[in-house]
Amino acid sequence: MDTVTFKGLEFVPYLTREQIAEQVQRVAAEIRRDCKSENPIFLCVLNGAFMFAADLFRACQMNHAEITFIRFKSYEGTSSTGKVREIMGLSEDIEGRDVIIIEDIVDTGVTAFQLRQMLLGRNPRSVKMATLLFKPESLQLGTPPEYVGFEIPSKFIIGYGLDLDGEARNLSDIYVVK
Ligand code: IMP
Ligand code: MG
Repeated sequence: MDTVTFKGLEFVPYLTREQIAEQVQRVAAEIRRDCKSENPIFLCVLNGAFMFAADLFRACQMNHAEITFIRFKSYEGTSSTGKVREIMGLSEDIEGRDVIIIEDIVDTGVTAFQLRQMLLGRNPRSVKMATLLFKPESLQLGTPPEYVGFEIPSKFIIGYGLDLDGEARNLSDIYVVK
């Protein structure tokens, strides 16, 4: 893997597709082990989590599980704006159901907190969060995610769904800013 450049910033290889696939399998096994119901509803937070969600949802091998999508935006460039905008809401009824949020990354925790509050207001049986990446040192609000692929330092990363102003989502591996 080589260095890549986006919007004038240089990025170096950080996590390979093989390392990612391994953690996806582990997280999926943990979810399967813990989930009490036959048909939980997975909630993919667009845009960043789409690739992780596709892999995780398949890896869970829960034939009666459903998946749906919601869209939030908080980042501009390489930092959080501190404000979360809901761009596409939730249409499904989640009352009495086990909800598993799928996030690409938990940074300040603002998105996760706001999303959990919104979901809890709709009386689900449980709400848990699976995130591929977690920056524990950046967490300002709410509880840590229940399922974590990788804990990473507070540096900006791209690839495997994660973007820099819309670019770099297609990369199969994850890169960190140099
Ligand atoms: P939070 O609300 O600060 O926890 O950030 C949530 C969202 O910001 C994530 O779901 C990502 O979409 C985006 N984000 C946070 N850190 C990064 C990063 O290092 N690279 C790309 N996007 C990020
Ligand atoms: Mg996200």
